[in-house]
This record gives sequence, C-alpha cells and structure tokens, in this order.
Amino acid sequence: MAVVSYEIKSGVGIIRLNNPPVNALSQVLREGIQNAVVAAQGDESQVLLIVCEGRTFVAGADITEFGKPAKAPSLPSILDSIENSVKPVIAAIHGTALGGGFEIALAAHYRCALASAKVGLPEVKLGIIPGAGGTQRTPRIIGVDAALDMITSGNPVAAAKAHSMGLVDHIINGDLLEGAMSYAERLIADNAPCKRVSDMTIDPATATDALFDSWRKKMAKKSRGQLAPQKIIDAVQIAVTSSVPEGMVKERELFTECVQSTQSSAMRHIFFAERAAAKVNDLAKDTVDRTISKVGILGGGTMGGGIAMNFANVGIPVVMIEINDDALARGLDIVRKNYSITVSKGKLSEEQMKDCLSLISGSTNYDDLGDVDLVIEAVFEDLDVKKEVFAKLDKACKQGAILATNTSYQDVDKIAAATTRPDDVIGMHFFSPANVMKLLEVVRGEKTAGDVISTTMKLAKKINKIPVLSGVCYGFIGNRMLRCSVRENQLCMMEGASPEQVDAVMQGWGMAMGPLAVGDLAGLDVSYKARQALTEEQKGDPKSYCIVDAMVEMGRLGQKSGAGYYRYDPDTRARSSDPEVMAVIERLSAEHAIERREISDDEILNRITCAWINEGAYILQEGIAQRSSDIDVVYVNGYGFPIYRGGPMHYADTIGVKKVYDMICEFQRQHGDVWKPSALLEQLAAENKTFSQWSDEQT
Ligand code: 3HC
Ligand code: NAI
Repeated sequence: MAVVSYEIKSGVGIIRLNNPPVNALSQVLREGIQNAVVAAQGDESQVLLIVCEGRTFVAGADITEFGKPAKAPSLPSILDSIENSVKPVIAAIHGTALGGGFEIALAAHYRCALASAKVGLPEVKLGIIPGAGGTQRTPRIIGVDAALDMITSGNPVAAAKAHSMGLVDHIINGDLLEGAMSYAERLIADNAPCKRVSDMTIDPATATDALFDSWRKKMAKKSRGQLAPQKIIDAVQIAVTSSVPEGMVKERELFTECVQSTQSSAMRHIFFAERAAAKVNDLAKDTVDRTISKVGILGGGTMGGGIAMNFANVGIPVVMIEINDDALARGLDIVRKNYSITVSKGKLSEEQMKDCLSLISGSTNYDDLGDVDLVIEAVFEDLDVKKEVFAKLDKACKQGAILATNTSYQDVDKIAAATTRPDDVIGMHFFSPANVMKLLEVVRGEKTAGDVISTTMKLAKKINKIPVLSGVCYGFIGNRMLRCSVRENQLCMMEGASPEQVDAVMQGWGMAMGPLAVGDLAGLDVSYKARQALTEEQKGDPKSYCIVDAMVEMGRLGQKSGAGYYRYDPDTRARSSDPEVMAVIERLSAEHAIERREISDDEILNRITCAWINEGAYILQEGIAQRSSDIDVVYVNGYGFPIYRGGPMHYADTIGVKKVYDMICEFQRQHGDVWKPSALLEQLAAENKTFSQWSDEQT
C-alpha cells in the first residue's frame, strides 16, 4: 500500500497515511500529504479526512531525520496547506497523535478521536520544543497555563480530557473510519466552515509576565539544567502577541536551536537506546515465549512489596510468600500503604486500588507457589540463604516456571546451580522503590534458556519497565560501575574534598542527587554488609572504604538513623552539614598518611565520570552488556544520571573517547592500577572511534 493514498467517498476526500510502525513524518510521508491536500483542493470532495492505517495516528516527526540536512517539504509548509485548505479538513485520531502528528491535527479544522486515543506534545522529552505550531496553536485553544503544563510535561492527554479541554471536537466510540465518516457527513450537511485555530486569540489577562516568570522558575527547578523547557515558555509567550505565522517563524528558530544542542542529541540517543535495549542479539528467531499469568514473590521486605505491585497494576495476580505471619502482614501492609499514597496523590482511584489489592494474596507456605508461572525471589542478600530458597523453589514450582532472583550482587549461576533446572533461572534486578523505578536489569546466567530471556524481556515491557540485559558479574552493569565511582568519591574525600563539595559538583553537573546524599538515602549499612562477604582483595584499597565503614561503625547509617555523611532533622528530614564528619575524614586521612590538598571541582567530576566510563568499557569488552547504549539506559533510568547528557558512554563519545583515555592514563600514573584503562578504551582512542560506532559494528 502507498505511503499516502486518496479516494473520495460520499463527498469525503479520504487521505490515508500508511508509514509503519508509527506513521512518523518522514520526508516521503510529508510529501505525500502535501501533494494530496493540494490536489484535493480542486476536486469534487467537500471535506477532507486525514486518517491513518496501523496502530496509531501520526506519532510525530521522524526523529531519525533530526540532525541531518532538512529535506522539503517542511512540516510547517504542510500545515499551511492544511490550514489554508478551502474545504474543511478533519483529523481522525486513533492511538497516539504526538508531536508533529498532533500539530497536523491542530492545523486541521476539526479533530475527532477514538475514545481510546491520546494526544500530546512530547518534544520536551527529546530535548526540543514543538516545531510546527504546537506552541502557537495549543495556548489559543486551552489557554497559556494549561498549554504550558501540557507542553513542558510532554505527557499525553486522553481523548475524553482532550475533548473537555477543546483539543478534540468529537469522540468516536466504535470503528474509527465509520465514526469519522459519519462525523464528516454531518459537517457537510451542516455546511460547516473551515474553523482555523490561527483565527483564535489569547486573552492577554490570562498571559501575564508574572505567570511566565513563575513557570520559568518552576521549570528551572523541575528540569534543572535543561534548555528545552525554558525555550517552550519563550515560544508560548511569543504566541500571546504574535499571529500564528509570525509565531511559527520564531518557534522554528527556537526548535532549531534545541535540535542542534548536545542536550537533544543525548535525549534522542536515550529514546532509541531504550528501544534497542529490549532487543536480544543472539536469540533464535523462532523463540516461543512462555505464558505468565500468575506470579509468586518470595519476601515482602523493601523490594518484594514494590515488585508485587508492578504485576497487580497490570492485572497479573501475585502471591507473596514470607517466613511467618508477622512478616507477611508487614509486607502486605507496605503494599497497602504504597497504594494509599498513590490514591492520596490522585494518581489512582479507590476502585483501582481495591482491584489491585484483590490481586495480591499472601502465604507462608511454599506449596502455594505450585501454580505460578514466574517466581521472583527477594529475600536477604546472602548467597547461602538464596541457594537454600532456590532448592525449595525447585521442589515447589511446576515445570516450566521461571525462577528469578532480585539479587543485587550474588552470582546467578551459583544460585541456578542450587536447582535441577538452571536453564529456568534468571536475574530480575529491580531498583528501589521497585514500584516506581523504571529500570530492570535482566541477568542471563550461563545456562538460562533463550525463551526464559525472551519472556522476561517482554514481560518487563508489560509491567512498564525498561529492561536491559546483563551477563553475570559482581554487581551486574549498574552496581559494578557504581562501585568504581564510589571508590573515587571516597578517595577524593580522603585526599581533600568534603562530602558537600563532592555532592555539589555532581549535582551541579546534573545528577539527580549527589552521591553521598544518595548513600545516606539508601543506607550506608547496605554496602557495609555487602563488603563483609568479600575477601580483602575483593574489597580493594582500605582507603577507598574506610570513611563509609567509620560512619556505619559510629551508628551513622544515613537518613534512617538521622545521620550519615550529613545530619538529618528528625521531623523534616532537612539535611545539614556535620563538622563531626569532616573531623572523621581528616583523622582517617592522617591515619593513612595522606596529605590533604585542595581538590578542584573538575578533578572530582573527571574522576567520578571516568571511573564509570572505564568500568563501562570493561563491561563491554567482556560482553556483559550487549551495547554501549544499554549502559547509558541503566545509568539514566537507575542511577539519576542526567538524561540530557545521555549516559556515561554517550558522554564519553560526546567529549571524545581519546580525551577520556588520556585522563584515565593520567589518573593511572597518579593513583595506580585501579585506573588501568580497558583494552577497548585504548583501542577506540587509537582508532578515534566512539563507543556507539563500535557497538554498531558488533551487530
Ligand atoms: N520517529 C522515528 N521512529 C520512531 C518514532 C519517531 N517519531 N516513534 C517511534 N519510532 C520507532 C521506534 O524507534 C521503534 O523502532 P524499532 O522497532 O526499530 O525499535 C518503533 O518506532 C516502535 O516504537 P515503540 O517501540 O516506542 O512503540 P510503542 O507502541 O511502544 O510506542 C509511541 C509508540 C507511543 C508512538 C512511541 O514510539 C513514542 O512515544 N514515539 C515518539 C513520539 C514523539 O516523541 N513524537 C514527537 C517527535 S518530535 C516532533 O514531532 C517535532 C515536531 O514538533 C516538529
Ligand atoms: P529486606 O530485608 O527488606 O526483605 C527481605 C524479606 O525477605 C524479609 O521480609 C524477610 O522476612 C524475607 N525472607 C527472608 N527469608 C525468606 C524466605 N526463606 N522465604 C520468604 N521470605 C523470606 O530486603 P530487601 O531490601 O527487600 O532486599 C531483598 C533482595 O533484593 C536482596 O537480594 C537485595 O540485594 C535485593 N535488592 C535490594 C534493593 C534495595 O534497595 N533494598 C535494590 C535491588 C535489589
């Protein structure tokens, strides 16, 4: 079928778009729309109907074209043809009308949508602003405040709400084409005019400077460091005093500035990286997935409850197993409280909460796992405990059930060896809080079967997680790299930095939180306990963990004990510096004969980021991660890495792999062989290649 086809039925000129998978506005589609609209001006049709084949209305500009030379016709010129059509143009929306797709609909004179459809302007999530009138037309329909909310959040709006806001004129229940045709015929019968959004104006009283200023402040806080949200506000402000054609010229300038920024390039990288991460390179094409209709969760502690919620949220029943009635009651109570908080925030109705809770049952008997298709173990982080638990699961679970562990560090192969079916065993490493965090590291053991990997990766998407495949190693992708950066933040403190300086540098650079504040939040005892299970050699240089150990041994476990690297107000949890911590650090420096010196912010930043990159390169060279962009997905979605820097490996590609290699060699000269550069890094630096180019060459 042609990308754009045209036919006239009952006076309606139907322009059908067909550009799978999501009808992105590639050059050929743009040209097809343009030609169809222009040609239809002189034919016998009375109204024009733009409708899409496949799973969705146009989902936006073709993101792969960004950063490449523009090809005519431009989207704004197509929208001109649509809006200036002499006969009414109707957009018939199903699926998601997003970005440029919704801008087409806004240029049309009427919009009808299936009740299940959504509309939105998600450009901000790609580090750009709507570039084809979205910032100019939206505020004319829904007002400045609502438009800023919609465009700066990038969140889609469901059809019913869009209808109530005036963004959609008519809701269709039932078949899209039938509904759209009868709407079109009604408009013909009513002799409906071409209703142009450009003819609408914005009441200046609803668009004061104070309103724009408060949005600028709000976004500076919410989207710290990001360019696009501020440019969106500028563009919407332009709409107040400009005509749509004038405003669109200025909007386009701001759009181009954003598209060309390193921020947008990083965010587009993450968009494609998240989709690539779900793909497993070496699975047989004929792999048949297992069916997952019921799930068991072992352990209802910090992680178990949150994990259970993910499944209940998508209608999959869960049974939670605990060691005794008290522990089970505690576990189920955490789940209930979490749901209540979501209800109190207005993100879930009471009814939905009841439905979810009705899907979660509890037991203290492993026999109740007999009918589950997947069990996820989230008991204490202790290899012996886990081995014992998996031996029991082997007996309790039916053949064909997937046996998963949520371990953070333990060897999945050793856990699998405790069963008679290691091919059914896999790691599912959720992040805390498990009902909120999007990342899921899926850890393939040496013997994990292909269908188990495939099923788990797809299931992750079903429960709204972003899966990344990892091989087995200590800490998998994320925590293995984290260990290296923690080593450096500790050493920087030993050599002269304060916790405040380290945190200010990293947060100022864009991390969601400074690394030491994160340590306090997670609990310093977690890594302390993990270290107890390691040999002295595995632990590494004592200088790299003596500060955190000292904190724990003083009872400073972090926020939960009211003090860690910082002190916390018991009521407000407000953080303050604590001179006692600096005294401990200085004492430890002296004990290790380290002469403290002034450490520059740049040194802290480079040591922490290079530690990630070098370890990431080892992870790639060992085949633990499938591609460099997977590592970026892990860091952006699991470790608070600023999305607008695209993840550690993309960051290395951006600043130059050779430059990173040189810094690492210098660190090796200064600090020894913990900084030995990976062979892959050395090779890429010599060949002047990026991690991304290397990853592309591997597939
Ligand atoms: N351009 C190019 N490719 C796109 C694309 C786009 N706008 N949107 C999706 N794709 C690709 C994906 O990369 C993926 O490719 P793959 O199969 O090779 O991995 C494929 O289409 C399917 O995408 P998903 O896996 O994401 O499919 P889902 O069904 O889960 O989601 C969707 C569909 C909700 C449309 C989601 O793809 C999405 O959010 N897309 C991006 C929408 C967007 O950001 N639009 C704005 C673009 S910028 C713009 O329009 C500027 C304008 O103002 C000028
Ligand atoms: P937790 O200590 O909060 O909860 C563990 C729960 O398991 C307890 O409620 C305990 O009663 C229960 N339990 C112990 N043995 C059991 C058994 N044999 N059968 C049934 N239940 C049993 O621990 P948490 O933090 O939830 O961690 C669980 C696992 O998840 C660990 O492997 C941990 O490494 C991993 N993890 C933890 C993260 C975190 O941030 N807490 C993040 C990611 C993974």
